Amino acid sequence: MDRLRISGGARLEGSIRISGAKNAALPAMAAALLTARDVELGNLPMVRDIDTFRRLLSGLGADVAVGGDHTARISASAIASCEAPYDVVKTMRASVLVLGPLLARMGEARVSLPGGCAIGARPIDLHIKGLRQMGAEVHTEHGYVEARAARLEGAEIVFDRITVTGTANLMMAAVLASGRTTLRNAASEPEVRDLADLLNRMGARIHGAGGSTIVVDGVDELGGGAHTIMPDRIETGTFLVAAAITGGRLELTHTDPSLLASPIEKLRQAGVRIESGRDRVTACGAAAPAAVDIETHEYPGFATDMQAQFMALATQAQGTSVITENIFENRFMHASELVRMGADIKVDGSRAIVKGPVRLGGANVLASDLRASASLVLAGLVAEGETVIDRVYHLDRGYERIEEKLGGVGASIERLT
Ligand code: EPU
Repeated sequence: MDRLRISGGARLEGSIRISGAKNAALPAMAAALLTARDVELGNLPMVRDIDTFRRLLSGLGADVAVGGDHTARISASAIASCEAPYDVVKTMRASVLVLGPLLARMGEARVSLPGGCAIGARPIDLHIKGLRQMGAEVHTEHGYVEARAARLEGAEIVFDRITVTGTANLMMAAVLASGRTTLRNAASEPEVRDLADLLNRMGARIHGAGGSTIVVDGVDELGGGAHTIMPDRIETGTFLVAAAITGGRLELTHTDPSLLASPIEKLRQAGVRIESGRDRVTACGAAAPAAVDIETHEYPGFATDMQAQFMALATQAQGTSVITENIFENRFMHASELVRMGADIKVDGSRAIVKGPVRLGGANVLASDLRASASLVLAGLVAEGETVIDRVYHLDRGYERIEEKLGGVGASIERLT
């Protein structure tokens, strides 16, 4: 199993090209199941989750050609199987995104229940409830969700709580349903809007995506389409924190800073100088960052996917930072690893109190999920001595060539295979 070795202390300086957003690319790949025509995707991040999704689609009978230039051509002209098996779903919860498209196009779908994961229970009850409201018969048996519907019917759906993949799943189900579906209390994450842009290009009639009410007028069939995946706002935010924590200066290109208003505001409060352009952003770290409180919320609030990275930064800030996690019940697994590196963090339910600044010392650490791993990389960049991060496959799920990108701006980081 690969590990990353980081020698801390280098001030990062230079430019990094941001990749396409994993969490926009996965639903876009799922959307290709809705049509017999080709779907072409550009700016696809070359990360492990994309490869896992490619295997999932191939298993369903789709032809997926991933190019070396961050493109993919997906042809689901014939669907041979309507089942997302346990083996794949257990490694990547986003596999559940095939449920809506398969049911809408084929009239049936069988998807392994994802179960819990390192950051919490993560049920899919709201996906199921919505599909039932659209007329589907849904059973859960032997660890699988089995759904059937001759043709889905438009419905008024009010989400009990905001769910990103739940919104994407029901939006994809609704595009081929008869009549109008209205999704209320929908996720307004930019990745949902990116998916709607692709679907509309394929002939869907979706209005309001990116807001909390989405209206979908069903059509009989969809055509093909070409789409460029939006930039990864979480990768961008992670590297902004890398500049902040090392007191360095990083320019991030091919991104969209308007999607990061909340973390950028927090960095400014911490004393980090941020200059934003249309498709680039530069962060210049302060010698002594100030402590700031963070509370995670759905978009446009502070993203839960940036919480772990800010906790690493809080260990270097002057004063006490209170970090509140509102989206997932168990997303502080990185705290205990940061404490092993010398951090002063007390976790109390959904709150973590971080006192800084402390001198972190390199250690062997182990991460349990993608963003937790990112926070350990950031801590390793400022720790004294060597940090070895185990289970790098978590990072590889969502960060493209992170060691090359950070190495290119002055970090001392290498992959041990
Ligand atoms: N929830 C339910 N029932 C449901 C669905 C969700 O109770 O049917 C709860 C969840 O347990 C959670 C909350 O609602 O407490 C929000 O979950 P959501 O469904 O929005 O999360 P997700 O769609 O499974 C996506 C991202 C995550 C990101 C969250 C929140 C993808 C593939 N994943 O997950 O990204 O943290 O939204 O923004 O888009 C990551 O990239 O590292 C990652 C975990």
